[in-house]
Amino acid sequence: MKLIDIINSRYSYRGYLDRNVEQEKIDYILECARLAPSAKNLQPWKIYIVKSKEMKERVCQAYARDWLKEAPIIAVFVGKKGSNWVRRDGEDYLMCDVTIITDYFVLAATEMGLGTCYIAAFDREKLKEALNLPENEEPFLMTPLGYPKKEARRERSRKPLPEIVEEV
Ligand SMILES: Cc1cc2nc3c(=O)[nH]c(=O)nc-3n(C[C@H](O)[C@H](O)[C@H](O)COP(=O)(O)O)c2cc1C
Repeated sequence: MKLIDIINSRYSYRGYLDRNVEQEKIDYILECARLAPSAKNLQPWKIYIVKSKEMKERVCQAYARDWLKEAPIIAVFVGKKGSNWVRRDGEDYLMCDVTIITDYFVLAATEMGLGTCYIAAFDREKLKEALNLPENEEPFLMTPLGYPKKEARRERSRKPLPEIVEEV
């Protein structure tokens, strides 16, 4: 599949089938994520793969949606504060690095025919507590990972290029 086809077949899926994800697919997705770039190659991140029913229930308390509970896996993307690059003017790139590794994960999952949905609107404190995260680990994003219910997606709408691109 060409990259444009993978990008075009990614949607935010808010509904999952009761079907497990093959370990080879998980391994492939994680290897793609591992290869993601980061500022100064500091790789200030960690991915928590949540599979057990008990742990999923704990994580879902931070974002209570039935469709999240349905997914066989939830991946949580965490930035390690103090381990990332900060620009001279003080701009912090931790969230940017974590976004990139999340994107690699999401696109690899899409290539494998799996559904995902970026989630940021979780209760941070509850999520940190659920995963027992150390003080320096900041969760920025999470996603369900599983075979999606095909209908559980919305029609794509994007701004046209002239609205977002300016040649200067
Ligand atoms: C950074 C980020 C955070 C998001 N957080 C949530 C969220 O908390 N809950 C949710 O249902 N969708 C969330 N989304 C999904 C967006 O609503 C979705 O990507 C957007 O509407 C475009 O739809 P599409 O992903 O199907 O193309 C998030 C997406 C991004 C990129």
